[in-house]
Order: sequence, then structure tokens, then C-alpha cells
Amino acid sequence: TRPFVFITRKISDNVVSMLEQHFLVEMWCEEEEVIPRELLMEKAKQADALLTMLTDKIDEELLTQSPYLKVVANLAVGYDNIDLEAAKKNNVTVTNTPDVLTDTTADLTFSLLTATARRIPEAIDYIKDDQWKSWSPYMLAGSDIHHKTIGIVGLGNIGQAVAKRATGFDMEILYYNRSRKQDIESELGVKYVSFEDLLNRSDFVVCMTPLSKETEGMFNREVFKQMKDTAIFINSSRGGVVNEEDLFKALESGEIKAAGLDVFQNEPIGADHPLLTLDQVVALPHIGSSSLETRTEMMELAARNIKQVLNGGKALTPVHI
Ligand code: GLV
Ligand code: GLV
Repeated sequence: TRPFVFITRKISDNVVSMLEQHFLVEMWCEEEEVIPRELLMEKAKQADALLTMLTDKIDEELLTQSPYLKVVANLAVGYDNIDLEAAKKNNVTVTNTPDVLTDTTADLTFSLLTATARRIPEAIDYIKDDQWKSWSPYMLAGSDIHHKTIGIVGLGNIGQAVAKRATGFDMEILYYNRSRKQDIESELGVKYVSFEDLLNRSDFVVCMTPLSKETEGMFNREVFKQMKDTAIFINSSRGGVVNEEDLFKALESGEIKAAGLDVFQNEPIGADHPLLTLDQVVALPHIGSSSLETRTEMMELAARNIKQVLNGGKALTPVHI
């Protein structure tokens, strides 16, 4: 019989058809709803491959109970939803979707930065709520972006693509990364600084670091205190990197000026989330890579990774453990 591929959310028909040429394929046919845990466990027990979302917890329990499983292809560049050690122990290859989403996610990150600095969502509400009575000198006056200092925390592919965009705004670009990346410093015109210097000097602090044991909660009260009181904090990586209670306090007390957030500690958040009560917060529902073109490419890449591994080849974009 043909290997069994289970897809944990409704994806493109074309990608499903491509997999069906080689494999037996089943899919959780909801677009918005996460597959219930019990059903995921049941399907994983029979599956040779899983095409997963970042909302699926692929933990040790699931991996040890899935004897046929050879590959988990995550539809995301991040893979903090997967226990890599347990995958390794169980000889399961994990793949992600790097590169295809780099520019799209950098575009969104920069859009979020400009939207937050120039108060665009507030301005949209202002006009829709019929508050526009006259032009006035300080009406919805925001913060400049051009010629300001941007500090990028985590200079991976997406961080570098954000730096490139900042160049067009004549910004001074600082970065902090676990390892210094001297080779690209002159190419991108970025300066390596300590985390502390970055916090002290940046007008925009942009978090681009993956979520791991080391980075969990790293943006805490102490860190926000070190930023300028005019600083704008942007996060489009993972919510878990931020202590949200501390961020709320920093914003409410004016220790920093504003925040643009595409990701949250516990997603999805509801309209009652405390951060949404603050005018200086611009919130988006985790849409960093969400363009039609890129989401399709991510699906295709995930499917090609599955095909490679199930056919005995090497994954195209394996996560290295
Ligand atoms: C989205 O957050 C991703 O990791 O691709
Ligand atoms: C604003 O519209 C200006 O003319 O400065």
C-alpha cells in the first residue's frame, strides 16, 4: 500500500493533488479550526508523514506513539511547536519553510513598523468614526521613521531582509545576534552591538529571534526599562519571546512609546486582551507570511519535503537538530 500522508488543515487543492499522485492523503478539512488533539494522535499513529501547522503540538507523546512516522513538514519557518529532541530519538525528519517567506515576512514587519510609528490604524478609525472635523497641526502626529535608529534582535534571513528595507529609509541599523555576522555587516550596512547598547540606542527595537528555551520571555520589564521612552517595539517572530504583562506595564507607564505586534504568547487572543486596550498598540493576527503567493509556495515546499523523505531521499529544508 501507498504511504499515508496526513495534513492537519485545509490547504491548496493543487498541493493535495500533487501528493495524491504518490501517496494516500487525508486532510483535516477545516480552514480556521485546529484539529482536535485526539484525532491528530490517532492519525499520526498511522501516518508516514504529517504536514503540520504551527498550531499543532508535535511533542514526545505523539512522536513516540507514531511508529511509521518518518517526516513532519511544518508549514512555517518557526518550529517551536515541535519537540526536536524527541523527533531525533524517533528518527523523524523535521522540515520547515525557510527562504520562500523571507521577503513577505520582512514586508509585513516593516508595514507593522510604519503603521505603528505613523498611527495608521488610529487614523483609519478616526475617519471612519467621523471624528475628522478639520486639518490640525498635531492631529494624529506620529513618530518619524527615516533617519532614525533601528535595532534588530536576531539577524537571520528575515532580520537581514528587514535591515535591507531599513536602508531605503536612511536608517541607522544596529543588530544583536547570538553570533556576530561580520561577513554581511558591510554588505547590509549594519553594526553589531551588545543587547544593552541596542536597547539604549534604538528608536525601533525589532524582535526577529526564534522562540527557544534561551529566548523565552527575554523581553521583560528590565529590558523595556533600558529602551528609550520614545522607543517603539515591534515583534513578528513569536509571542513567547515577550513577557506580555511586562510589555503592558512598560507601555502603560510610558517607559516605551508604542508596540506593533503580529504574535502573542497565547494565540489566538480575543478582543478582551489587555494590550488591545492601549491606543499605542497595533495588533495583527499572526499574518507575517500571509500573502497568497508565499502561502502557496510554503505548501508546495512542505509537500516536496514529504515527497523527498518518503521516497528515500534527503529533505530539501530539514531543521538541523
Ligand atoms: C510563522 O510564524 C512562521 O514561523 O512561518
Ligand atoms: C500638508 O498637507 C502640507 O501641505 O504640509
